[in-house]
Amino acid sequence: MYKLIDEPEIRRQVAVLGERISGELQDRPLTVVGVLTGSIVLVADVIRQIETPVQVDFVRASSYRGRTTRSRDLTVDAVELPDLSGRDVLLVDDILDTGRTLRALAELLRSRGAASVRTAVLLWKRDRTEADFQPDYFCFAIPDVFVVGYGLDYDGDYRHLPYIAVLEPDDL
Ligand code: IMP
Ligand code: MG
Repeated sequence: MYKLIDEPEIRRQVAVLGERISGELQDRPLTVVGVLTGSIVLVADVIRQIETPVQVDFVRASSYRGRTTRSRDLTVDAVELPDLSGRDVLLVDDILDTGRTLRALAELLRSRGAASVRTAVLLWKRDRTEADFQPDYFCFAIPDVFVVGYGLDYDGDYRHLPYIAVLEPDDL
């Protein structure tokens, strides 16, 4: 296991992210919807950088990949979502990999009446993302390695690390 992105670097980029989001929103109120569980750290940091009124909610989305990283189903538990009609929504996750999670969730939130849905992630595995999808905001593009920390887990562990680390085959 080795460190890929340290804490001060994350703090700097999250501040930049908050400024961009605030700047583009101007004074419109925002609903931040975090994808459980990995988004919790980024949501907590980013909402404190936004200067317009913000509401915060979470959806749970689980993907079952089986043993390959290829095909899988996405299960979304969004029964508790508030009324989003007319709201600008920022959908936040820890990482964008293939993009299937955020694509499906963005569609769901639009179907709940959101005026706009934008996506923000800390990390973007650009080379793995399906061609027709990209995040509206991201902090770091990373190569195709398995990362943990700052909300990201391996089998439930490591979410609390304040930095991003790469797990190597020996660690898995
Ligand atoms: P996507 O639907 O393929 O974009 O997958 C995104 C989800 O996969 C994220 O919400 C993470 O839960 C998980 N994920 C993808 N890559 C990693 C990683 O390197 N470490 C931990 N979780 C990951
Ligand atoms: Mg996730």
